[in-house]
Amino acid sequence: MCGIVGYIGERDAVSVLIESLKKLEYRGYDSAGLALLDGKGKSCVFKTEGEISRLESILPELPARIGIGHTRWATHGKPNTINAHPHVSGSISVVHNGIIENYLELKESLESEGFVFVSDTDTEVLAHLINKYYLKNPGDLAIAIRSALGEVRGSYALSVLSEEHPHELIAARKDSPLILGLGEHENFIASDIPAILKYTNRVIYMENLEMVRVKRDSVQVFDLDGNPRFKEEHIIPWNLEAAEKAGYPHFMLKEIHEQTNSIHETLAGRLQELEGDVIFDELDLDKEQIQNIHRIEIIACGTSFNAGLLGKYLFEGLTGIHTDVDNGSEFRYSNPVLTPSTLVIAITQSGETADTLAAVREATSYGCTTLAITNVVGSTISREASNIIYTRAGPEIGVAATKSFISQLVVLYLLVIHFARARSMMDADRVGKLLSELRKIPGHVSRILEDKENIQKCASRFAESKDYFFIGRNINYPIALEGALKLKEISYIHAEGYAAGELKHGPLALISEDVPVVAIAPQGHTYDKILSNIKEVKSRDASVIAIADSDDGEIAKYVDVVLTVPKTDFILTPLLTTVVVQLLAYYTALERNCSIDKPRNLAKSVTVE
Ligand code: G6P
Repeated sequence: MCGIVGYIGERDAVSVLIESLKKLEYRGYDSAGLALLDGKGKSCVFKTEGEISRLESILPELPARIGIGHTRWATHGKPNTINAHPHVSGSISVVHNGIIENYLELKESLESEGFVFVSDTDTEVLAHLINKYYLKNPGDLAIAIRSALGEVRGSYALSVLSEEHPHELIAARKDSPLILGLGEHENFIASDIPAILKYTNRVIYMENLEMVRVKRDSVQVFDLDGNPRFKEEHIIPWNLEAAEKAGYPHFMLKEIHEQTNSIHETLAGRLQELEGDVIFDELDLDKEQIQNIHRIEIIACGTSFNAGLLGKYLFEGLTGIHTDVDNGSEFRYSNPVLTPSTLVIAITQSGETADTLAAVREATSYGCTTLAITNVVGSTISREASNIIYTRAGPEIGVAATKSFISQLVVLYLLVIHFARARSMMDADRVGKLLSELRKIPGHVSRILEDKENIQKCASRFAESKDYFFIGRNINYPIALEGALKLKEISYIHAEGYAAGELKHGPLALISEDVPVVAIAPQGHTYDKILSNIKEVKSRDASVIAIADSDDGEIAKYVDVVLTVPKTDFILTPLLTTVVVQLLAYYTALERNCSIDKPRNLAKSVTVE
């Protein structure tokens, strides 16, 4: 997730672009850059590692009236100056948000034609590809971009500046957001509305596979075949603060909604349904090494620990590899039984959690191969683990982890499938079916979000409770833990997550009519068992909220409230039940008037022991 901007008009382009980028820093902030045409129409590019303020400090006075800019959240290549955008080829400068899935094959073919690459990014192929077509047929920048985009697989919102075309910017989008801001003798391009609100509240929303030619006094939108598109202008009623949250009252709610897109990003370029496999270009473990793993040790803290626990069920169930999960803080002071055939997987959204880092160092000293699953490119763990997989969820502002958690789960599913294939534990047919079900998950998540009023109603009904229980079995037990964690973090209600079968060994003594119990009960091999657990708590007068499949006609007979999730393969249900427990926690905290994005005593990243 990155932020892109563009400006053409009569103001000082440098200050407009810098101000606009600052409003997009929530989309990424590890490096930034601008491309401008100076007073003589010469192209100038400035970029640097670090935040926008650093870029600002290296910019000279420049009489520019046109330019493009970028703030980066690295997905391909380290967050350094060379990898920062804009990327340049000949007279063409490009800023891009998204992932070019086939960039390696395009890069190879462009290199064979003599184009020289300087960065590790996927975006640089766009610059060379556009330049290649422009050199073949100079004169129309839009045609060159259209031809280039015809070869690209993946997602993009991009903006292009060329010194051959000093009076226009071209932008296009597919699966990444892009808007236009309209002014008097000036126009703007941006990833999101906050970037332009200081200058105008008149916007046009670009749709997928649309391209636009932006001039000082006009914007012309086309489809990718060059046919003109009529676009409606909208007036934005929000103020700037509301706009940064895209109109949502809290970052947490915004990030819960962004999960449809973050799942999509996590999957991008990794699924091979036809071959029945998953590819991880970044993984330095070949088939033989995967076959030789005797044990997996997962290390994580907080929400990431809950993802790790799901990992244990999946690795053991689908690959047959014995898997343990430990908190970083416990692992580092235990006497771990590790051998070089143990794979140590660290899960950490921030990549900076002190206990997880210390545990990875401990594992490295035993000669183990380490693999980190993290959301932050260039984080400390990405420099210390021998393998890294990025979750690509984009920056998360709310302290309570939501979209970073779901992306961790998606990476675990993909990794488990990849290992199961390497160890011949799953056939291509089963994998193909599972991968096509995975592709449907973003759509299912949207369905749950559409039904959020029901979850909100349920949350208000029980918002005054002093205690809450979450129960689940098997792969939904980690989601019971996560539901309880989310609720206590942001609503300050005491909540416990339990393996449903354990209730009778203690917690049942606490169950009474004042205690709601959330039973996560999609249909699968433990369905009948959790129905029995529901009956156990019902007979102690608890109110039961069931999270069940949409086609479950039975469960309503035994419980007080049913919250449904669309039907999917049982093994993937945690990706859906998670969204329900997140929304339940969110609306409960909202009802209780809590500080949702910044809960008391907590921090997004815990870098101390
Ligand atoms: C903090 C955050 C949690 C997070 C935990 C582990 O406590 O508030 O949301 O789960 O740290 O963080 P990590 O970055 O290692 O996933």
